[in-house]
Amino acid sequence: MSKTAPWKTLLENTLNENKDKSKDIYNVAVGTVEANRPRVRMMVHRGFAPESDILLTTTDIRMNKVNQFHQSFTPNSGSPLEYVFWVDPAMRQFRVQANAYLLPSPSALKQTNPTPLSHYLIQSGIDWEQQRVDIYNQMSRTLRAAFAKPFPPGSHRTWNENLDSYPDKVDADPNDKWYQDGLHNFVLVIIDPVEVDYCDLQTQPNVRKIWRKDANKGWTEEDVHP
Ligand SMILES: Cc1cc2nc3c(=O)[nH]c(=O)nc-3n(C[C@H](O)[C@H](O)[C@H](O)COP(=O)(O)O)c2cc1C
Repeated sequence: MSKTAPWKTLLENTLNENKDKSKDIYNVAVGTVEANRPRVRMMVHRGFAPESDILLTTTDIRMNKVNQFHQSFTPNSGSPLEYVFWVDPAMRQFRVQANAYLLPSPSALKQTNPTPLSHYLIQSGIDWEQQRVDIYNQMSRTLRAAFAKPFPPGSHRTWNENLDSYPDKVDADPNDKWYQDGLHNFVLVIIDPVEVDYCDLQTQPNVRKIWRKDANKGWTEEDVHP
């Protein structure tokens, strides 16, 4: 993969320097497209794939956003996505325009992946399935249980459901049925950035820069007015 992107170093440093001041800085606003309309929700940034500028987040195969990824997908160009950090203690916004790809569990794929990874991602040498499993294993027991729940997120809730029928915590134990159920639903979202719009509202005068990925996977940098 190409050498470290300048915005990646800046983003990682900004997150590291501020993570003790606010735990919310890893919550990102994520925009997708559905029938020509924007859909935006919060998600948790799960870091970068090893030695790359590829950002990672995760979801549940049963969620609506998965359909939005499928419907807006173009082979080798992925699904259009915007991924926005607001690092409140540092008053900095990083707005990442990207092409995204879903990596569901092998068991959830009935035939082939409807959002197959681009050649670039396949040739990266990164074991994407291992990334998916590693992130699942690092989650809290409570969060892992959410993926194992038999009720699809967004499905109608009746309050007389038998809540004893599934656990509220799931250990990282591959021999546990609930661990496997959760892993089946767990999806890695692979985010290949093409443009980063950076805005620093703390520095006076404010700073805004736009990095654009070029044909050689390098990054051009432009200073713009905030
Ligand atoms: C702080 C916060 C973090 C969240 N993190 C995630 C996440 O990492 N992945 C995810 O799929 N949903 C996450 N959610 C839930 C989504 O925002 C959303 O409610 C849910 O995924 C359903 O969205 P959809 O109908 O667009 O699929 C998070 C919500 C909040 C408030």
